[in-house]
Amino acid sequence: MARLLDIDGVSTGYNGVSVVRDLTMHVDEGEVVTLLGPNGAGKTTTLLTVSGLVPLMAGKIEVFGRSVEGRRPHRIAREGLAHVPEGRALFYQLTVGENLRLGAGKGSLDIKRALSYFPALEPLMGRRAGLLSGGEQQMLAMARALTVNPRLLLVDEMSLGLAPIIVERLLPILRRIANESGAGVLLVEQHVHMALEVADRAYVLSHGELVLEGPADQLAKDRSLIESSYLGAE
Ligand SMILES: Nc1ncnc2c1ncn2[C@@H]1O[C@H](COP(=O)(O)OP(=O)(O)OP(=O)(O)O)[C@@H](O)[C@H]1O
Ligand SMILES: [Mg+2]
Repeated sequence: MARLLDIDGVSTGYNGVSVVRDLTMHVDEGEVVTLLGPNGAGKTTTLLTVSGLVPLMAGKIEVFGRSVEGRRPHRIAREGLAHVPEGRALFYQLTVGENLRLGAGKGSLDIKRALSYFPALEPLMGRRAGLLSGGEQQMLAMARALTVNPRLLLVDEMSLGLAPIIVERLLPILRRIANESGAGVLLVEQHVHMALEVADRAYVLSHGELVLEGPADQLAKDRSLIESSYLGAE
């Protein structure tokens, strides 16, 4: 199985101050991996560093076997890395269709394929993105990421502000994308239990350090492990 993302001994942060230290983790082809941890643990910073938006302070990151260091974010994206950021980042004045066409790589085929995962968007193609519900906006953000046919998909808190029942419907779609396209998915999620249900493996960050890792089904069975990592207990 190909290694899509390899993070090795990475420290990263802002203005010379590290907020993530000595992180080692990976994502392989077809895997859903979830990165968990309390607020401020460094999850978003980790994803931004993978995308090339925050520079590394130490260690190395390889995406598709090539170091990201010193490379421009759009170059990394062009090779097949898609990032659905915290807060969706849609063009709210534009329609659903326009948002999709802006992101699309080769054109309408990719849009069609992306919509096949989110059929609820089809009747909304002419609606302004700003008028969609929170769940619909999240679907649009995901669909837009899919239009580039990503090999590695980073998803940051897709569930923020959504009802649990919507999250329960959206997370299995990530599983399907990984299974059907062979893409790797790195998912940051507050709904720990639901994330573990769709993930193959999980990593838990606390105060910028990796405190727990393992197969998702094992961690799901022993929730006290995860809870104690969150609280920083023994
Ligand atoms: N642009 C920035 N400049 C300086 N410090 C930052 C910046 N962005 C985040 N931080 C700090 O880095 C630390 C990690 O933040 P990060 O956003 O990565 O956490 P997170 O795990 O994604 O949290 P949450 O679950 O709340 O989204 C926090 O202490 C935060 O205040
Ligand atoms: Mg975050």
